[in-house]
Amino acid sequence: MNQPEHLATFIQTIHESLLDNSFVKISLGNYKGAEEQLKNIYIKRVLIKKEEKLSFTYRYKTRDIVKNFGVAEGIGLIEKALQEGFHIATLFSTQFDLIIEKINQKTVLRKNASTNPNATSLEHDKAKNRLIKPQEKPYLHELKITDEEGNVYKNAQDKYRQINHYVEILSTLIKDIPTQNLLKVADMGSGKGYLTFALYDYLTNVLKLEAEVTGVEFRPDMVQLCNRIAQNTGFEKLNFVEGTIEDYNSIGTNILIALHACDTATDDAIYKGITAEADLIVVAPCCHKQIRREIEKHKASNELDFLTKYGIFLERQAEMVTDGIRAMILEYFGYKTKVFQFISDAHTPKNVLVVGIRNPKAQQKNPEILEKLKATKAYFGIEYHHLERLFQL
Ligand SMILES: C[S@@+](CC[C@H](N)C(=O)[O-])C[C@H]1O[C@@H](n2cnc3c(N)ncnc32)[C@H](O)[C@@H]1O
Repeated sequence: MNQPEHLATFIQTIHESLLDNSFVKISLGNYKGAEEQLKNIYIKRVLIKKEEKLSFTYRYKTRDIVKNFGVAEGIGLIEKALQEGFHIATLFSTQFDLIIEKINQKTVLRKNASTNPNATSLEHDKAKNRLIKPQEKPYLHELKITDEEGNVYKNAQDKYRQINHYVEILSTLIKDIPTQNLLKVADMGSGKGYLTFALYDYLTNVLKLEAEVTGVEFRPDMVQLCNRIAQNTGFEKLNFVEGTIEDYNSIGTNILIALHACDTATDDAIYKGITAEADLIVVAPCCHKQIRREIEKHKASNELDFLTKYGIFLERQAEMVTDGIRAMILEYFGYKTKVFQFISDAHTPKNVLVVGIRNPKAQQKNPEILEKLKATKAYFGIEYHHLERLFQL
């Protein structure tokens, strides 16, 4: 297949759909390669001995052969199959169908409405294989997610699923970072600590890692509540500190997360992560007021006024520009970035994750990125972005 950017987008979308659990299946067809009698490959996601795999069914004219591969290896094989003979592939996800097709030496990429919007991917299997089981978890009871017997309350089902979903995403991302003897994790703006507890539980009790997890939160009532629950649960290396993200000493942090830290608090968190050279930075941004105000100031004199005069578009523009610049700055400091929707927007509009994975081999401080940042600000009529200002770029 030519047009490598289409293939790269297709492959990246597979990654994202596995991460956000919207993946349903993949099919490859119109084979014109060298292998005799091969017609199609069908790929689904399976759990084998609690490990996620991609199961390939190779359909030949008269027989099927099934082979299971690790996720990374499997995705590599899909890429290879598209370069070596398959002329069409469809990624079926609950969000959309993405089709890559080679027509007359050209590669086209099409996104259609999902034909499987209600498919459960691994959801049903996962109900049995949740990473955070509800039973025998005093903290879930104290956080009012379960009753004393470990039954999830009806009104906490969404929260419980969300906690598991976060942990699943993090569990996949954690595989990409170097293993440490002691994992030091900081959760910025930890609030009531749902995720902080679940992550500590997963790292120490499921992965059996030595982990020290700190929740940073300026609300004293939350900090007291969470510390009390941590003590009652016997989570010795989970603690919550009262203070601001800005003042937190993040040195030595390997994983930094910030979920729904308001407006520029997300920038403060990213700043803390980059300056600590954290291996993994995961933020779910919340509101985007700072950039919204900047765009609003210049909207009348800006070519984009046909969009920004509508509140809803201004809001979306501010979100994309704010998070796009965050990703750009992460890349400037040598982070590989991913941005994806991690939860259906039926649950919450605050559903984008910005992820940075530190790549010590990546070029640091590429001046072209600063040029792009400058041009982007000029285009959108932005004087400054809070994260840019923190680094004095
Ligand atoms: C929307 S809540 C999210 C809580 C939690 N991360 C979650 O996703 O369930 C945001 C929390 O961040 C805290 N917060 C916001 N800005 C902060 C700052 N600059 N320093 C410390 N905490 C902050 C708020 O008090 C609030 O508890």
